[in-house]
Amino acid sequence: MRKRSITWSLLLSAAVVFAFSAACWAQVTQYDEEQRMNMESHIGKLTGHATAGEPLYRRFCIGCHGPIGDGEGENAQWIDPKPRNFTLGIFKCRSTPTGTLPTDEDLYDTIGRGLVNSNMPRWFPLSDQDRADLIAYVKHFSPRFAKEKPGSVLQIPPEPPVTEERVKAGQEVFRHTECWKCHGVTGRANGPSADTLTDDFNRPIKPFNFHDGTRFKCGETDRDLYRIFMTGLDSTPMPSFADNLKPEEAWDLVMYLRSLQPMNTPEKAIAKKLGLKPINPNAAAQPQTK
Ligand code: HEC
Ligand code: HEC
Repeated sequence: MRKRSITWSLLLSAAVVFAFSAACWAQVTQYDEEQRMNMESHIGKLTGHATAGEPLYRRFCIGCHGPIGDGEGENAQWIDPKPRNFTLGIFKCRSTPTGTLPTDEDLYDTIGRGLVNSNMPRWFPLSDQDRADLIAYVKHFSPRFAKEKPGSVLQIPPEPPVTEERVKAGQEVFRHTECWKCHGVTGRANGPSADTLTDDFNRPIKPFNFHDGTRFKCGETDRDLYRIFMTGLDSTPMPSFADNLKPEEAWDLVMYLRSLQPMNTPEKAIAKKLGLKPINPNAAAQPQTK
């Protein structure tokens, strides 16, 4: 009997210690987050303040991204792809290398642009200052922004003129870097791996279908397209090709991808003139032309 009560009291004190440390931990994290309310953002001449961003966030963003920024807002259950969890400090649209933090400008552009093919809208009604303040508030959710600096911005050389050779060479890049494994040989998001892909949170995810539209999540210009595959979309299977491609090859690839999209680009006219056939993934040789 005596032994038993000792065991119980031991258990009880263990529980007390556990509860106490959990409470402390919760307090520490909350304390950390409050400390980070002095977070700023810097975009050109604008300085954003987390304190000014908070009421805007509560009004416009909380329903999806949630009160603690973990992406679990009350609407999150209804939408796919899911809202970003800001506490991780991981973002798709970056001008910085994979694995590093985005710049404030990157986040600012994202808010202005929205993310196509998702429920994340463009935020036209917000003033430039509002957007800067919101960025500071978004950053305050993650301890990463207090400790790390953004990666160095990808340098993009000017776009060379579009030529037949470049469009053809771009198709070869598309083949040997194996974009087709996910995006499909004609860019219709039906490659051999397409149905098996999941994001870092184990949620199924589809590759981009180049025939679907002219805009991407992370922009719509040729430079945006160049940057997207060079920096990758972190937290998704879409890798960074910065270590695989020289700037020349990257521009060739941009030109080939433009020939796939549903718009009348010079690249498309060239591909038509050349009679470019979809790549044959098994052939080691050059892409086939007429
Ligand atoms: C209707 C839901 C919804 C609302 C409201 C919303 N978002 Fe989002 N947001 C999303 C979704 C969904 C994603 C993820 C899209 C994706 O991964 O393709 C996202 C992603 C983001 C990202 C990450 C972009 C990247 O590069 O990874 C940022 C930053 C962001 N939202 C900021 C905001 C801000 C600031 C507000 C308020 C002004 C806001 N969002 C309001 C749904 C929403
Ligand atoms: C392992 C599979 C995989 C490979 C290989 C791959 N991608 Fe992707 N790609 C994806 C997925 C998945 C998405 C969609 C990500 C999302 O919706 O968040 C995507 C999205 C994209 C987008 C649209 C991004 C946006 O902002 O909307 C572009 C452009 C793109 N890929 C280009 C390429 C190119 C070019 C290559 C080859 C150099 C390539 N991808 C290789 C899986 C892949």
